[in-house]
Amino acid sequence: MLDEKRILLIIGGGIAAYKTLELIRLLRGAGAEVVPVLTRAGAQFVTPLSVAALAGHPLHQDLFDLTTEAEMGHIELSRAADLVVVAPCTADLMAKMAGGHADDLASTLLMATDKRVLIAPAMNVRMWEHPATQRNLAQLRTDGVLVTGPAHGDMACGEHGPGRMAEPGAIVAAIGAALGGGPLAGRHVLVTSGPTHEPIDPVRYIANRSSGAQGTALAAALRDLGARVSFVTGPASVPPPQGVTVVRIETARQMLEAVEAALPADAAVFAAAVADWRVTHEATQKMKKGAAGLPVLEFAENPDILATVSRHAQRPALVVGFAAETENVIAHATAKRARKGCDWIVANDVSPATGIMGGAENAVHLITAEGAEDWPRLPKPQVAARLAARIAAHLTGHTE
Ligand code: CTP
Repeated sequence: MLDEKRILLIIGGGIAAYKTLELIRLLRGAGAEVVPVLTRAGAQFVTPLSVAALAGHPLHQDLFDLTTEAEMGHIELSRAADLVVVAPCTADLMAKMAGGHADDLASTLLMATDKRVLIAPAMNVRMWEHPATQRNLAQLRTDGVLVTGPAHGDMACGEHGPGRMAEPGAIVAAIGAALGGGPLAGRHVLVTSGPTHEPIDPVRYIANRSSGAQGTALAAALRDLGARVSFVTGPASVPPPQGVTVVRIETARQMLEAVEAALPADAAVFAAAVADWRVTHEATQKMKKGAAGLPVLEFAENPDILATVSRHAQRPALVVGFAAETENVIAHATAKRARKGCDWIVANDVSPATGIMGGAENAVHLITAEGAEDWPRLPKPQVAARLAARIAAHLTGHTE
């Protein structure tokens, strides 16, 4: 997948640097040449010898290294790569990049390169959430830097949340996508995500507890396999992924319109928790309590976006729905698949006791024409990666 690609890999100083050794192994296994650069802080976490041995390539560490400069100057080093990857990318490295510093080899290479840069941030959750880091992140994205991760989870420092470096496999996939590879290269996939908001009056609306986490993870996973992703999202509580075309909507009817406008697509995945009903007559002014007594809301049914697309003249080759059930999950989801006319249904139990809706994990059953498969309970990004791989296998005709 990465044959003859040359990756300049900058290893920053974070505990996640040990995972970068696995990343080097995976990259070489995928056919890439890895040119490693270890920062001074990075060398506190992994040894120069293990990095150079795994990379099978001399290691670069110093800006003012005469031997290295004689063989290949740092400017040339920064350009003789197809992609520059920073993993782990610490808060300090992000700050240096955003500020344009060039006071050591890594930051100088990052300033001098004319190639795309992909970073895999890794840091403590508070450091990640700090306004300075978020400001730097926004600046780096504006500058065209690609970002993979960080993932949510338990951290080496004992805290929990976003900040873990993306898994080496996910970084390889992001590298493949950045270099235009991946099994879904050239394919267009549509993903809906998040809740919809159905207005009652200018200040009130009907909503549901969907965070958009599963749809967002899925869009990122499909992007990582090289797909061009159109991401139609309601007001979700997690930010949309980088590197996808985001269309923000509020109501079910707007979602349908955005979905139809995004067709044709090779596949469409409907992960949104669309409100089934809307208030028939949205009040144009704020409804006041008072003499008229309690308000009575009259409801109208929203269009079923999944069913509409499943029977659409421009129906994608693969249409995947989700089923949120609280009882008889497989029976209800199997009936839903037939009723909606889609190819697959990803069914999950959203009873409050499962903690799935709005939570970090998902336990799904994949319902296809062949029957139901039970998948283990996994973090949502892993469910997404598995589903994305399955979609890629289906579209390309390759079995996993
Ligand atoms: N869906 C949709 N448009 C709607 C309602 C649902 O596209 N108006 C999609 C969802 O994105 C999901 C699937 O249909 O992929 C099933 O959603 P779910 O809420 O589980 O099903 P409902 O259609 O609401 O059916 P029921 O009320 O029987 O649970």
